[in-house]
Amino acid sequence: MSGFRKVYGAAPQAVADAPGRVNLLGEHTDYNDGFVLPIAIAQRTRVAMRSSPEARFSLHAHGQGETVHFTLDSPPEQHFASYVYGCLMLARSRGAVIPPLQIYVESQVPMGVGLSSSAALEVATLRCLRELLALHFDDVVIAQLAQRAEIDYAGVNCGIMDQMASSLADTSRALLLDTRTLERRVVELPRESAVLVMDSGIARSLATSGYNQRRAECEEAARLLGVGSLRDVTSAGELDALPDLLKRRARHVFTENARVLQAVACASAKEFGALMNASHASLRDDYEVSIPELDRLVALLQAQPGVHGARLTGAGFGGACVALCDTHALSRVARTVLEQYRAAGQRGAVLVPPAAALATVAA
Ligand code: GLA
Repeated sequence: MSGFRKVYGAAPQAVADAPGRVNLLGEHTDYNDGFVLPIAIAQRTRVAMRSSPEARFSLHAHGQGETVHFTLDSPPEQHFASYVYGCLMLARSRGAVIPPLQIYVESQVPMGVGLSSSAALEVATLRCLRELLALHFDDVVIAQLAQRAEIDYAGVNCGIMDQMASSLADTSRALLLDTRTLERRVVELPRESAVLVMDSGIARSLATSGYNQRRAECEEAARLLGVGSLRDVTSAGELDALPDLLKRRARHVFTENARVLQAVACASAKEFGALMNASHASLRDDYEVSIPELDRLVALLQAQPGVHGARLTGAGFGGACVALCDTHALSRVARTVLEQYRAAGQRGAVLVPPAAALATVAA
């Protein structure tokens, strides 16, 4: 990592990385103890560290002019630094003795679009710390600490999907995760199909407040139904007891959990895609986390021959869409939909496969 040497004048003592993720199905189910189906993306975040000669921590992110300084007793003010700081504090709470460090971060994971750049940063930070200090954290513990860092230090009351995906998923097969038990298994994508992710170009403005509000609504629905979490709802009829808004929120969670389980049981790309389309409709109408631009991009994707299904991915309120495409159609679909979306005056972009990889996919 040449950037580390440029900033600190010496080589790092430990380097680690972790990927972003895209969620194929199972949106807003993880904080309801439900099922999710993410896959890692090729873009990764890399973190390098060495112990510092100074009494304070230094943190430099590639592309940002300044180096941030802090101690464990005086947290950094910059938002991005709070993820790293949170990981250090969580590792300390698990017994790690952490000396002042020089830390360098560089990331290829697109930020603020629903591809878990924050989870990639947290997991890479904890992996780097594990290597530097020979800590006995396994990959599940790393995901759990990373999730805590996000909740306690970045203010998002998130579930565990993103951190588990970043810590345990790979880019070729999806990870079916039961977020209640953390039982998991890898799932092959349907034959001859590939994942396409496109950015709507709209920043996720309500992501934190809207997200925390949805979570609170789910908790309220579970309380009114007398269940520990919405995972415990066993039939759609039970939801009739709820007031309309909570009923719709809970119905999304109930049907989305079922879609994940159906998707892993089905062999065909067509069926898988139909479940993704249904997921989008549910996120739009029942969960109300879509926006017109995401609906438009999803509709353009769904209309393309060679696309099996498409939906918004991540928390919603802006950000990206994911589509399952016929492998041979991938580059044509990406090009055509991008043109159509931009013709409507929007700033879209293809995020996965990354630009270089997309150029090598046959048209
Ligand atoms: C964000 C959260 C996840 C999950 C998704 C929605 O990415 O970090 O825990 O809840 O939103 O599925």
